Parts: sequence; C-alpha cells; structure tokens
Amino acid sequence: MCGIVAYIGDRDAYPILIKGLQRLEYRGYDSAGVSLLPEDSSQINVYKIAGKVNDLKEFVEGKDVSGHIGMGHTRWATHGAPNTVNAHPHLSEHGDLAIIHNGIIENYETLKKELKNRGYTFKSDTDTEVLIYLVDDILKNTGETLEESVRLALLEVVGAYAIVILSKNDSNKIIAARKGSPLVIGVGENEYFLASDATPIVEYTRNVIYLNDNEMAVIEQNDLVIKTIGNEIQTPYIQELEYNLEALEKGGFEHFMLKEIFEQPQSILDCLRGRVRIDDGNVKLGGLTRFESTFLNLKRIIFIGCGTSWHAGLVAEYLFEELARIPVEVEYASEFRYRNPVITSDDLVIAISQSGETADTLAALELAREKGATIFGVCNVVGSSIPRMTDAGVYTHAGPEIGVASTKAFTAQVTVLILMALKMAIIRGTLSEERIHNLLQELVNIPDKIKRVLDNDDKIKKIAEIYKDAPNCLYLGRGYQFPVALEGALKLKEISYIHAEGYPAAEMKHGPIALIDENMPVIVVAANKMHYEKVVSNIQEVKARKGKIIAIVNEGDTVIRDLADHIIEIPETDEALSPLISVVPLQLLAYHIAVMRGCNVDQPRNLAKSVTVE
Ligand code: G6P
Repeated sequence: MCGIVAYIGDRDAYPILIKGLQRLEYRGYDSAGVSLLPEDSSQINVYKIAGKVNDLKEFVEGKDVSGHIGMGHTRWATHGAPNTVNAHPHLSEHGDLAIIHNGIIENYETLKKELKNRGYTFKSDTDTEVLIYLVDDILKNTGETLEESVRLALLEVVGAYAIVILSKNDSNKIIAARKGSPLVIGVGENEYFLASDATPIVEYTRNVIYLNDNEMAVIEQNDLVIKTIGNEIQTPYIQELEYNLEALEKGGFEHFMLKEIFEQPQSILDCLRGRVRIDDGNVKLGGLTRFESTFLNLKRIIFIGCGTSWHAGLVAEYLFEELARIPVEVEYASEFRYRNPVITSDDLVIAISQSGETADTLAALELAREKGATIFGVCNVVGSSIPRMTDAGVYTHAGPEIGVASTKAFTAQVTVLILMALKMAIIRGTLSEERIHNLLQELVNIPDKIKRVLDNDDKIKKIAEIYKDAPNCLYLGRGYQFPVALEGALKLKEISYIHAEGYPAAEMKHGPIALIDENMPVIVVAANKMHYEKVVSNIQEVKARKGKIIAIVNEGDTVIRDLADHIIEIPETDEALSPLISVVPLQLLAYHIAVMRGCNVDQPRNLAKSVTVE
C-alpha cells in the first residue's frame, strides 16, 4: 500500500518521479504528491492533491518543478481521509523537512500527544506527519545530524514503515529507512533511485539494493551508507534486475488486466520452463532440492495467503491431498497470525503471495518460523520480503502484474503448486508412473488450451453484455472448481462492484438458494469429470428456481448444454490441472462486465495491489 519513489543525481528529478509514481500507482491511488528541492534550496516545493497521478500532473503544470533531488508518493489511505491535506509528502512544522511514508506508525497517538504538549500544531490527521515532527524535534533539541535524528526518531516508533526524508538545510542528502514495508535502491552512475519496487528504477539502472528491515540508507549523489537502526554499518549487496521494460507497458491492450489475462499461455510456459522432465517423469524445482528428503515424512502442510493467493492455496489443498497424500490446511494469513495456532517443527508452512510483501502473510510466516516450522514461499516478485525470509521457495515467474485484480499471478501460482505437489508425490511414491507422465504431458499442453479459451473472448463478451447490470451474482463449483468459483466471484466484485459470492455447489442448498429467482445469474464452473452428475443436479436445482445459468463446461458436453442459458466450453484436461483453464473465462467475464459498466478495471476503487498494512 502506498508507493514511494525518490531521486538524487544530475537529472531533473520531476519526470523520474512522475513516471515512477505511474508505475507504482497499483499500490494505492487515493492521492498523489511530490516534493522537490530547487537548486538554491530556498524551500522544499511540495505539490500534492487528492486523486491520481494524472491529476497531480495537471495540477503541477506551470509550477516550479526544478531540482535534482526529489521524492513522490501515491497513497492508499490508512490514517485520515484521502484528501489533499493528508496526501504525502508531509512537511515539518516550518517546512525544513519533508517525508514520504508507506506503512503505519502504530504509536502515533502517543507520540502526537507528547509533541502537542511541547507546542507543536499538526496540519493533517496522518501518522506520517507525527514522524517528521518527531525528527524535527530531535534535530532541533539535540543538535544531532539529520541522519542521527532520523535514527533516534525511528527508535521511538512502533509500526511499519518505508520512509524517505529530505531536508532543505542538508540539501545534498536523502535519508531512507525500512521496517516491514519494501524499499529498493537503484544504483546508477553518480545517481540513486529509491522506490517501493524496482519498476520505477529499471529503465535507468539494473543494479539494485533491497534494503532490509531495520536498515536505513544515507544517500548523497556520490555516496551511499547503509546502517542498521541500531547504528551498525552494513555492506550493501548489489543485485542485478532481470526485468524487461515491455512487461511494464500495456503493449496495445486497453488495460493491463486484459494484457495479463492474454499473457497467461506465455506466463505459464515461463513458469514451467526447465522444471518439467517428461522423459524421466520428474519435476525439477531447484529452490527445494535441499529439502527433498524431508518431503518423505511430511506430516502436514499449511498454506497461508490473502485474496487471490488464498484461493490458490485452496486449489493446493485439493492438489497436495490428492496427489501427494499430505494433509493440508489453508489459512487466511490475517486469521492465522492472531489465533495462536498449533504449529510444530514437523509442519511445513507455505506462504503464497504475488507481491511477496503482504503484511499479514509476512507476519503469519514469521510466527510459523518462531514456532519452529519450516517455511517456504511461492512468490512472483523476485527479491521481495517473503522470498528473502523463507527457508526455500519457488518463484512463479509470471512477470510484473500491474492490474490490481490478480490474473496471471494466480495461474502461475497454481502452476507452481501443481509442480510442488507432483514433486512431493514423486518422492513419496503416491502416484503411478502413468499418472505422473500424463500429468506432466498435460501440464505442457495447458498454454495451448488456454489460448483456445482466449479465442472465445467474443462469445464471453456477449454474455457479459447480457448480465452487466445484474446487482448480484452467484458462482458455484465442486472439487477443484470450488476455489475457481471463489476466484471468479472475487474478480467480478473487485472490478465491477457487483456483489458476487462463490460457494461450493452443494452448499448452495444451505442458504444461497433462497436468493435464486429469475434475476439471479448463477455461474457454474462445471468442468468436472469426478462427480459430474452431482454438478448437473445442482444446476437442475438452480433451474427449478428460474435462475439464469452460465456454465463453464468441458468441450463436447451435451447434458449441461440443454440445461444452461449459456455455456462456455473449455478444453478438457486432467481434473487436477483444470483450474488453470476454467478460471480464464471467469477472468474475461469479469473484465468485460467491468469495462461495460465504465469501471476503472486496472485500479478499482478502494483497493491496492500490495497490501503492506494489516
Ligand atoms: C490484494 C490484491 C489481490 C491479492 C492480495 C494478496 O488484495 O488486490 O490481488 O490477491 O492482495 O496479495 P499477494 O501479493 O500477497 O498475493
């Protein structure tokens, strides 16, 4: 949540900041702002506005945006309404210091009270303003340097932060720090870039440093010092980025979400590359090699995640139990972390996260580690916090996902989970050689089968046209299709604001059936082979109450064709792999409905892609 970007060097900072904010806008878009230090350092110029980065650009037109040092922020509001006053950057009382912040200062009220008692008056309702006032207070009263004042202030702070601070009196310097929220430093020739992720940096330099928790950076144009908040100097570890710039552009598609849906054949191929060994009936997951011997006696796996990643965890429950015969639990990270769960060193806890930064998932993983569990990650963003804290993991390699509603990251997560389940099944000897061979063969066929679903886009669009004004929608599925139904409902509600609920098809009888009448669209993910006739019965139950049935069925289905109002056919595959295909028409349906309703598909209201607050 919230995106931050900063620059120090010879270039004009403003264009870098604006472009960077546009790249980071997926992290929040309630308000946007920049601050710049002009050449004479007479004052810190701050421009901020409630709204999006494009509104900020318009607002700034004609104003002084000169300066080679500056920073910008795009906000997802936590404390205080999403208005201009609460927008970042925030200034210290007399405008000497400016701060941008991603995170939450939990003890801000106590700190605010103390500072008020000392005569400070606050302008905003934010926790961030309290921090910059605290730095200012320490700076003035102790005579310490800027960096030392920031460090001392951070020692008083409880909470999570990635911050950047500028000073008009120390005008060749940027101070940054992180605890719990991500911060990447791009290292150029006599210039440095800072951002919440690498996307604003990649076109200027590929050399980056991921700041660790409890570290701060003191950056001058030709100098970088990293130390801990405890004041120990650290040796920076510079890594090379593997990003491709095109992945950050829309590439001719109207929205990032549509581009990302259509990228799925390729992103799944990228995810499978080098990992599937059809000839010797095996799977190679380099990151897990060290742990392979432990899979044999594994007692339990707990998957943790949030949102779409939690849905991928639900698919994993079916996969790991069916293929590898390992008991599985799937937990919302936010519930798990506060429930005092029973975890032992026999447990394997696997966090699933596109961003690798979700605050609840990180905290749940930390808890699992404290309790002695082995911890793995399934993440998309290379170098993010979860991969850096886990014992082992597998990257999904889906490439940057910019649309807030997750699509290609979900199918890449499921692909990795299939590979992991297969690896464990092979080691534990729970599957016949024939089934392993068929699954591996089918897996490599999945990208082409998804292409065939994408070819049906026009048909899906026509169905979207019919149901775009529905106030509610029900999604049903059984077995492997149940998590897909949940994911389909989530896609629709996230981006079109239509109330949608996903349910196990048979559970419909215990409540949702009361909602069904001739106005209720019911999307049934019926691409089942196992228990097919049970799904048919559920469809009959909906039909008997005059619900409108849109069914996702395997190609050639004749029974449901006669019952449903609309069918969307998808290529058949092994049932364990079918979520990879059956979710795609649901993504497209949600996308088209949202576009037809005039919604902002890539940046739906109130949401953010990377949820770094709990
Ligand atoms: C937010 C995003 C979702 C995502 C969830 C978990 O809610 O909008 O798309 O599924 O966070 O994020 P993660 O990065 O941990 O997968």
